[in-house]
Amino acid sequence: MQQEDTVRLIEDWTKAHGRTRDRLLPLLHMLQEEIGFIDDAAIPAIAENLNLSRADVHGVVTFYHDFRRAPAGRHVVKFCRAESCQARGAAAMEKAAAERLGVPMGETRPDGQVTLEPIYCLGLCAIGPNALVDGKPVARIDQAALERIAQEIAA
Ligand code: FES
Repeated sequence: MQQEDTVRLIEDWTKAHGRTRDRLLPLLHMLQEEIGFIDDAAIPAIAENLNLSRADVHGVVTFYHDFRRAPAGRHVVKFCRAESCQARGAAAMEKAAAERLGVPMGETRPDGQVTLEPIYCLGLCAIGPNALVDGKPVARIDQAALERIAQEIAA
C-alpha cells in the first residue's frame, strides 16, 4: 500500500469513527488489520487526525506488543510468555522454536517465510506451553509439536 493510500485510509476512518484521542487504539488495530503493520510513515497522519503529538502515537505503538512495526512473514508463530506457560517450560520451547525455525524471537526470517512473536496468554493455561500458529492455537508444545510446526511452515 502506498503512503498516500495509508493517509487516505486514516482520514476516511477518522471521519467515520471520530477524531478523539480514545480512537487511537481502534485506529491502530484497524491499520494493522488492513495493512499488516504500523508503518512509521503513518504516525504523522495518525497524530494529525487525532490531534495528538507524534511522540504520543509512537509511544503507544511501541508500548503494545500486538502492533507490528514491519510486515510479518507468510506464517506467524506466537509463543505464550505468560506465567502458566512459563511454569510449564515455555522458555525452553521458545528457544528451541527459534533454533528450529531459524529466526530470533520478535523477528522475521530473511526469506520472509516466518515471523516469531511473543503473546501473553491464550486462555489455555492448563494445557501449556502454548503457541498460536497462523491464528490457530497449538497446546502442549514439545519437540514433536515444534517439528510439525516447522514442517507446516516449510510446506
Ligand atoms: S499462560 Fe499461556 S495460555 Fe495462559
